Amino acid sequence: MFHKPNLIDGLSWLAAVGIGLVSTAGAANTEPPADFVFGNGSIYTLDADSNVAAALAVKGGYISSIGRDADIEPLIGIDTKVVDLQGRMVMPGLVDSHMHVLTGGLALLNCDMNYQPVDINQVLAHIQACIEGDGKTADDDWAEVVKLDYPSLVTKNGEVGKRELDKLQTERPIVIQSSDYHTVLLNTRALDLSNITAATPDPPGGKIERLPGGQEYSGVFQDAAARELVNLPPPTEAVRLEACRSALRLLRQAGITTFQDAVAGPDDSPGEWRGHRPRRQHKTWVGLSQNTVAEIKRMNDNSTIGPKPTMKWQAIKGFLDGVITYPARTAAVVDPYCYPVNGSETDGEWAPDPRTMNEPYWSQDILNATLEGLFLAGIDAQLHVDGDRAHPDRKGDFKLGLAHEELSYQDDWARFAALGVDPIMSFQWAQLSSFYIPSTFATLGDYRRGNLQAHRRIEEAGRPIVYGSDWPIDPLDELLALKVAVTRSGDPTNPKSPASFGPPYDGIFPGDPISRESALRAITTNGTRFLRADASIGSLEVGKLADLIALEKNYFEVPEEEIERQRVLVTMVGGEVVFATDDAQSEFGVTPRFPNFGQIGSQLDNRAIGGFDRRSLSKRGVASVARLRRRGQCTHKHRG
Ligand SMILES: *[C@@H]1O[C@H](CO)[C@@H](O)[C@H](O)[C@H]1NC(C)=O
Ligand SMILES: *[C@@H]1O[C@H](CO)[C@@H](O)[C@H](O)[C@H]1NC(C)=O
Ligand SMILES: *[C@@H]1O[C@H](CO)[C@@H](O)[C@H](O)[C@H]1NC(C)=O
Ligand SMILES: *[C@@H]1O[C@H](CO)[C@@H](O)[C@H](O)[C@H]1NC(C)=O
Ligand SMILES: *[C@@H]1O[C@H](CO)[C@@H](O)[C@H](O)[C@H]1NC(C)=O
Ligand SMILES: *[C@@H]1O[C@H](CO)[C@@H](O)[C@H](O)[C@H]1NC(C)=O
Repeated sequence: MFHKPNLIDGLSWLAAVGIGLVSTAGAANTEPPADFVFGNGSIYTLDADSNVAAALAVKGGYISSIGRDADIEPLIGIDTKVVDLQGRMVMPGLVDSHMHVLTGGLALLNCDMNYQPVDINQVLAHIQACIEGDGKTADDDWAEVVKLDYPSLVTKNGEVGKRELDKLQTERPIVIQSSDYHTVLLNTRALDLSNITAATPDPPGGKIERLPGGQEYSGVFQDAAARELVNLPPPTEAVRLEACRSALRLLRQAGITTFQDAVAGPDDSPGEWRGHRPRRQHKTWVGLSQNTVAEIKRMNDNSTIGPKPTMKWQAIKGFLDGVITYPARTAAVVDPYCYPVNGSETDGEWAPDPRTMNEPYWSQDILNATLEGLFLAGIDAQLHVDGDRAHPDRKGDFKLGLAHEELSYQDDWARFAALGVDPIMSFQWAQLSSFYIPSTFATLGDYRRGNLQAHRRIEEAGRPIVYGSDWPIDPLDELLALKVAVTRSGDPTNPKSPASFGPPYDGIFPGDPISRESALRAITTNGTRFLRADASIGSLEVGKLADLIALEKNYFEVPEEEIERQRVLVTMVGGEVVFATDDAQSEFGVTPRFPNFGQIGSQLDNRAIGGFDRRSLSKRGVASVARLRRRGQCTHKHRG
């Protein structure tokens, strides 16, 4: 039954059993003292009634009491750590239901293009500096470059590939990952070391781009070709551990206490992970085989979620299509992509090209049989679904997550609720960026812009959104993501924001925002519901685990532009402080289990490739947007 090679899968785990720790305010004075007491706060519980409390007590890793300051006072004993929040906001720890932790960690160690809209000269100059400074000298040492903003590179320079990369002063193989990880660029040496010749066929679900003339490969690989054909040596165990540790530090600083790793395999769990909180990890397993079900069940940590970190394997992941982004356009779509009629992207007309209507990577019967087999075995699934055509048709007692849903079809909005499937959406994609301007908007056509990132429409049709950052495809900035969800815009005037590219990205993305509460529930309660962990985490309630964060400013009260411009001060997992900013350490008198390294803000400041004029992209972009606005939509007008 499992005969599709390019699947990724994931995470299996058993339903958490409810935890029966209880305490009531009335019995408080007979109780043993709490380990932690938070008082004088604005504690957003995100319980069913959205109650806000002033005080919260923690005992043995669980929340033992919530209420007024007076309710908690009797629980303060001689060894109780008392945190005076001075009005600050506390809320449940963030639950990120789709991220790539090992990939993100590895990217922190590599030559980093940092999502910037660069041209080919900037790319080459930066790579040259990286390879001269990375301490590797052998001709076979690969140089991996990450987080390239490929759409803006193509906008500026057209298709680039091996011919440009071969200008680098090096004999070494070079591989560049686009920031969406669906495209790689190789130099000739990397093509040679991967044994790729003109005779190498496209793998299923992938595409090797060719130079004009159709024979020679250009050095640009899409989707499965990018994942499967490039002979990049795997990172060593030591490098992977360093990557994991770096990633988990960022997660703790970002306030993430639970995450689902969207692409994982047995090698993605170095033993030392378990000691490094945050986390309640959920893994999605890579590569289906006859043994997948048995392997997942063997690896799963069956224990009930408790104060200690857990690693659950409870689902698989499969890719049903690619991405809608121009020029890749590998996502399966109901209507064809629009295409520049006379080969110029910024001048002239775009018209639909029927050849660009991709089929989903799996046929419906294989998908049906695969999901049925998994669900019967008690394993959930998360499917990569980027275009509006790649939709499964299933209903029953299982969790089916549809990751991304960048473009969704209006007839499907009500079906999400009817079928009980969960759209897992990355809020940062609902801001104007080089992924859309100028060419992705043009290639999709104006008439379906309202179907892009349709958070509000899906929610109004009855299915709440589940949040997944997709880090490192997006910068790890959950507060920016929330800001985008509630405003449909980034924070373009904030120099610390990864979205601060300047015009033409300053405007509002098409479609409607969701409420602050909905956005927050997508990254807390609705996430844990999807992960089957809502009995233990997601909201702050007596008997649930003390997974919580304290924020510098009140998310519900600050003006929109300040939602992102603040920090997580404290992150607690299972009653243990795992992160606190330097000032929170002195203000609250708490000592985190792990030392701090920098702040996320300063990491984003430290753009590996900063210093050039980010607004340089804008002239063509502005012109193109203006033209599209005038035209109203992709004209569907064929030449002649
Ligand atoms: C709350 O504030 C009052 C007044 O400053 C203070 O006496 C009390 O100790 C504070 N409570 C906690 C739990 O810090
Ligand atoms: C590439 O081809 C050479 C010669 O046939 C062979 O020795 C080598 O193992 C191949 N490498 C890969 C990665 O397939
Ligand atoms: C989980 O439970 C299954 C069956 O109940 C068992 O076979 C498996 O070994 C358990 N896994 C772990 C990690 O304990
Ligand atoms: C592209 O075609 C349109 C008409 O279809 C024409 O108006 C425009 O000038 C052409 N642009 C170029 C660069 O050839
Ligand atoms: C797949 O399953 C759905 C739901 O059971 C069913 O409606 C559909 O006909 C199936 N399609 C194929 C090709 O098996
Ligand atoms: C999910 O989010 C929706 C929208 O905010 C909310 O109405 C619903 O209560 C949430 N569900 C859970 C389980 O929190």
